[in-house]
Amino acid sequence: MPGPSPDELATEAAAALVDLFPPFVRVALVPVADRRPAWAEEEAAVDRAVPSRRREFLAGRAAAHAALAAIGRNEGPVGVGPRRQPRWPAGVVGSISHAGAWAGAVVAGSEHARSLGLDIEVLDPPLPEDVERAVAGPLVAEPSGHPLDAYATKVAFSVREAVFKCLFPATGRLLEPTDVAVELDLREGRYRAVVSGRFRRPESALPPIQEVPLAGRFAVIAGHLLTGACVQAGGASAGGPVRT
Ligand SMILES: CC(C)(COP(=O)(O)OP(=O)(O)OC[C@H]1O[C@@H](n2cnc3c(N)ncnc32)[C@H](O)[C@@H]1OP(=O)(O)O)[C@@H](O)C(=O)NCCC(=O)NCCS
Repeated sequence: MPGPSPDELATEAAAALVDLFPPFVRVALVPVADRRPAWAEEEAAVDRAVPSRRREFLAGRAAAHAALAAIGRNEGPVGVGPRRQPRWPAGVVGSISHAGAWAGAVVAGSEHARSLGLDIEVLDPPLPEDVERAVAGPLVAEPSGHPLDAYATKVAFSVREAVFKCLFPATGRLLEPTDVAVELDLREGRYRAVVSGRFRRPESALPPIQEVPLAGRFAVIAGHLLTGACVQAGGASAGGPVRT
């Protein structure tokens, strides 16, 4: 019997993405291979890029527009900020990621979420050995006793990327792997991440969200790892505790 088609897999992945976030978050996931119309400003942002980069960037924008349409805020191009971060419409928070076959985007009104982070990774190949060494270590724990194999290390990497994107609007800082302690529950697809307090930015008008331990979820669909991070407007994170 033939396996699921690419469209069926993308639908399955989009459903998995929904489950990673609270209900007020709207998600979209599109195949990177699809060619969709883009705003001139978005085309211009990658007009000198290699074809693979153009495709992933424009697929990310297509996902962003689909997600924005779902909250009634698809109003114009999603620009590029000075640190590569997407520029969302006023009053909207969101995140974009692309890897392998898919590009995804998540958005929410800022009355619901203070910040969102999305990361998509392909599981194969594993991380290069030097990155694995930097990601793993005492700051990654798996309480149910699973060994920290290549899969667990990739999940920890993806958690840190999602958390980085979620915190960047408040911190404006890059994170080192040692800045984020990660506790994984591989069986339940949950994580808890605690970010070093040194990222508190006293001049920021935002409360120091990096002091909120982030709890979130991840899922694997068709060889892709999807990881979500969300800080709700009230300061709570989305995924509940790792252990009950
Ligand atoms: C920015 C970064 C997270 C992108 O990750 P990636 O694996 O290259 O690619 P992804 O597809 O997951 O995400 C790329 C998208 O993230 C978004 N992004 C880029 N910089 C961002 C930032 N500073 N803040 C929020 N989102 C950002 C963009 O939308 C980008 O896609 P686009 O350029 O096509 O618009 C990563 O390159 C990076 O710089 N990380 C910083 C290091 C770090 O803190 N790592 C965590 C600790 S190990």
